[in-house]
Amino acid sequence: MQDAGRLAWSADGDSLAVEVTRRQDYRIVFADHAAAAPPAIRGALAQALAPRVTLLADRRLPHGRIEQVRAGLLALGAECDMVAVSGDEAAKRLATAARVWAHLERSGFKRRDLLVGIGGGVVCDLAGFVAATFMRGIPYALLPTSLIAQIDGAIGGKVALDSAHAKNLIGGFHHPCLVVIARDLLDSLPPRELASGMAEATKVAVIAAPRLFAELERIGVDWQANGPTPLPLPVLRACVELKLGLLAGDPFETVCLDRELNFGHTVGHALEAATGFSTYRHGEAVAIGMTVAANLAVLLGRCAPATRQRLLEHLRRCGLPTAVPARQVAAVLGALGRIRAIRGGLLRMVIPCEIGATACIDEVDAEELRAAVADPSLPGGRRCEPASAWTLAEAGHG
Ligand SMILES: NC(=O)c1ccc[n+]([C@@H]2O[C@H](COP(=O)([O-])OP(=O)(O)OC[C@H]3O[C@@H](n4cnc5c(N)ncnc54)[C@H](O)[C@@H]3O)[C@@H](O)[C@H]2O)c1
Repeated sequence: MQDAGRLAWSADGDSLAVEVTRRQDYRIVFADHAAAAPPAIRGALAQALAPRVTLLADRRLPHGRIEQVRAGLLALGAECDMVAVSGDEAAKRLATAARVWAHLERSGFKRRDLLVGIGGGVVCDLAGFVAATFMRGIPYALLPTSLIAQIDGAIGGKVALDSAHAKNLIGGFHHPCLVVIARDLLDSLPPRELASGMAEATKVAVIAAPRLFAELERIGVDWQANGPTPLPLPVLRACVELKLGLLAGDPFETVCLDRELNFGHTVGHALEAATGFSTYRHGEAVAIGMTVAANLAVLLGRCAPATRQRLLEHLRRCGLPTAVPARQVAAVLGALGRIRAIRGGLLRMVIPCEIGATACIDEVDAEELRAAVADPSLPGGRRCEPASAWTLAEAGHG
């Protein structure tokens, strides 16, 4: 629950030193069934005098699902209305936010009412952005319905819209007052979206959790035989806890913009940008980005070829791509060159050293990067050295 915050000041010569703090505490509830959401929301509504909820829903969700949540909210005695939006990336625009603001204004939404976002990462980002900006900030809860949103998008309080030219350019930090991770919301998620989420789960496992990686490998074997299914609740929870651990040292991204969570994202983002954000699902691009990072790590002698192979085989079993297609290599290198230019000639990348340990390379050599992007087969590389001097455990996240 959000508290009132604190503001203090003291005289400092001919100026005043002002100190403002704001706490945003909240719960992340894990449940097998979405039916658990309304009772959890009851607490979030307790502050409201005449409880009222506006559902911001992905219109691709099964109708029955949304009605189930709505019926649960009505049973709490809350008034409940709904705005439906497309859950596709194109909805993460100012025009959609303006439509939701207008709905809230027309319907007499008050500052202690609750906005509830139910949908994938797009709807979670949109709900957070609307909540951060309407009436200078209203409470909101999230019921993420895609694997990416459950283990990543709904966690961390980052809210954003896309500009006409760039993803996530317009936004800020505004934590929800509640997140309910209900496994059965994933039942209707298409297999390709589940696989995309598996890439993000794999990312945090490679960064910090060898045992989780082994569990994901077992799940990958099952997926290969039977097709993708939602991840078990303890795995979802492990991924969320890992993400929280990785955010803990710098929750507002003020210190380090190149932290471990960017593993796979530098090249993944370049690939998404080079293909107009329409060819790859986000997790697919991250899978390719992790592969390129592993190629680079082997080239630099920082990762054993067998570790790279283990990662690639797992990704492939989950139906994820593990190479930049030859026709996109030049465009990806071009996009990476632009990132390098923006950062004053330096390109940083997070590389895997072993399963459970990564390192941040501050200055990636252009030729080594070209080889890592262009050649997905096992590169010769330098002799593998022991894992990086800088690992998560040493950074205090162990
Ligand atoms: N804020 C953050 O920290 C953060 C982190 C990761 C991703 N994101 C953002 O999240 C977005 C990607 O999220 P995503 O991969 O969930 O994409 P998404 O929200 O576009 O969902 C993918 C597709 O699945 C559909 N869908 C979602 N849940 C469904 C369900 N249960 N049943 C049927 N269809 C369903 C959606 O309508 C959409 O078509 C990007 O915009 C990304 O920038 C934000």
